[in-house]
Amino acid sequence: MNPIHQQILDFAEALPGLSEADKATFLKLVKEADRALTISEFKLDRTEKVKRTTAILLEETIEELEQKRAAIEQTNAALSKSLEDLKATQAQLIQSEKLASLGELTAGIAHEIQNPLNFVNNFSELSVDLAKELKEELEKDPVDKALVQELTADLTSNQQKINHHGKRAADIVSGMLQHARASTGTKEPTDLNALADEYLRLAYHGLRAKDPTFNAKMETDFDPAVGMVEVIPQDIGRVFLNIINNAFYATQQRKQQGENGYEPTVSVSSRLVPPLWKQGAGQVVFIIKDNGTGISDDVKAKIFQPFFTTKPTGQGTGLGLSISYDIVTKGHSGSMTVESEEGKGTEFIIVLPA
Ligand SMILES: Nc1ncnc2c1ncn2[C@@H]1O[C@H](COP(=O)(O)OP(=O)(O)OP(=O)(O)O)[C@@H](O)[C@H]1O
Ligand SMILES: [Mg+2]
Repeated sequence: MNPIHQQILDFAEALPGLSEADKATFLKLVKEADRALTISEFKLDRTEKVKRTTAILLEETIEELEQKRAAIEQTNAALSKSLEDLKATQAQLIQSEKLASLGELTAGIAHEIQNPLNFVNNFSELSVDLAKELKEELEKDPVDKALVQELTADLTSNQQKINHHGKRAADIVSGMLQHARASTGTKEPTDLNALADEYLRLAYHGLRAKDPTFNAKMETDFDPAVGMVEVIPQDIGRVFLNIINNAFYATQQRKQQGENGYEPTVSVSSRLVPPLWKQGAGQVVFIIKDNGTGISDDVKAKIFQPFFTTKPTGQGTGLGLSISYDIVTKGHSGSMTVESEEGKGTEFIIVLPA
């Protein structure tokens, strides 16, 4: 028993005049109080033990967490290192891609220019021989007039061929320069419908000037809501001209097949596509459609590549669409796509930010 309780009991025992019954009650109460105290002490002791165990557990958990944190830190460091490596590899890859396409392009240019240059070289060598022959003939007496005439005719035809192939080489070079040169023009608000209309007519009359038998129907359907759009007018004009020229060309190719009732038609239409959200700028869409020969799937895959052409040698550089594609996508953050059905016609779709 708790000593204080014992003292209380002893004190009560010694009290004079306390009945035996009172003493018994007193003893019972003190014993109960003592038992309650013992239970409380026991509980306290147990709580203390639980507390200590918990503290130990907590310490262990903290240690474990610390280890995990360190591990995560390590993983993070490893991850950012591999991210850096990845970025470096990517940069290298882009660089070598660029080099590869530069190499391809250079090989393409060399190949394309070699052809006309070979002609120029061959015909000029031939011309030197012809001139020598002519000179010798002129020194003779009498001069064979028919031979002189023949030689000068050959010389003239050679010079024409040299000129033709020289021009072709110059076209290729100027096309390449257009490709390489960053556009010098600046963006300005432009009436795109008017620009498209102007270039449609320009293409038509240009072709008629070259070939008076050329004919085709022109249709336009311009959305007045297109209005003024920020573009580099010369560049977008060139895009229209390239695509419209191709369209007319395709209709002429189909016309030559002599189909009954075929009417070559090229149409240009525009639409303003409003923005999805009020704050957005929206887009303008131009569709240049022809009912020409159409494009087969394997040709379609290549038409935007520089130098790809199906035109006969001397008629096209194959740069028109690749320049146009660059102007629309890189120069104006737009897109240019093609849809075509062989034997039915083709549609070029240009989308520009409004
Ligand atoms: N509207 C079209 N219909 C059918 N084929 C087309 C059309 N537009 C382009 N093509 C095909 O795509 C090829 C490439 O066109 P691109 O304008 O780049 O060069 P090109 O017209 O051949 O030469 P260039 O434009 O230098 O005169 C063409 O040779 C042709 O085969
Ligand atoms: Mg073209």
